Amino acid sequence: MPFTIAIDGPAASGKGTLARALADHFRFHHLDTGLLYRAVGALGGDPVAAAENLSPQDLLRPDLRTAEAGQAASRVATDPQVRAALVDFQRRFAVQEPGAVLDGRDIGTVICPDAALKLYVTADDQTRAARRAAELGADPAEMLVQLRERDARDAARATAPLRPAEDAVLLDTTAMRIEDAAAAAIVLVQARL
Ligand code: C5P
Repeated sequence: MPFTIAIDGPAASGKGTLARALADHFRFHHLDTGLLYRAVGALGGDPVAAAENLSPQDLLRPDLRTAEAGQAASRVATDPQVRAALVDFQRRFAVQEPGAVLDGRDIGTVICPDAALKLYVTADDQTRAARRAAELGADPAEMLVQLRERDARDAARATAPLRPAEDAVLLDTTAMRIEDAAAAAIVLVQARL
């Protein structure tokens, strides 16, 4: 049985870094599911058609990491038809041997409700804004406004809102170095292997 790890949380909580660390450590496949929504937003045109026809090449576009792409992603992500078009790809990815790590907003709740381990990663929003601003070379105050807007949209939408699964382990990375968070997550996986 492949081992699936579901990691959810708000923007810049550290979930991507954590997902990569776990995938590296256990030699698991890794999918940053935010890239799917970012690509759909960046492609423009009809978002449902873009989601239905998404190709692996689309995930390699260089403009997907910008704050604008994040905002566009969170707008198309409110559309239930866009979300539905992306489900099968994510579920197939999740069951690859020997294991897979998927990070996003609805992995533990909707995409992989039977994941062997679910993590919900948070950090206070000032900390997250400072981290993302440093990464993108942007202004922390402007980043805080954008993150709050995106978090509010992600948590308030009717389909697959951002929230922890009931059986998720909560990991608050506000006062934690990401290496320590990764070490803690590795122990959690080892206990379940
Ligand atoms: O994780 P990232 O910041 O790249 O995600 C961009 C946006 O894509 C999120 O703000 C969210 O609206 C959407 N998303 C989602 N479900 C996922 C992953 C991302 O709705 N599983």
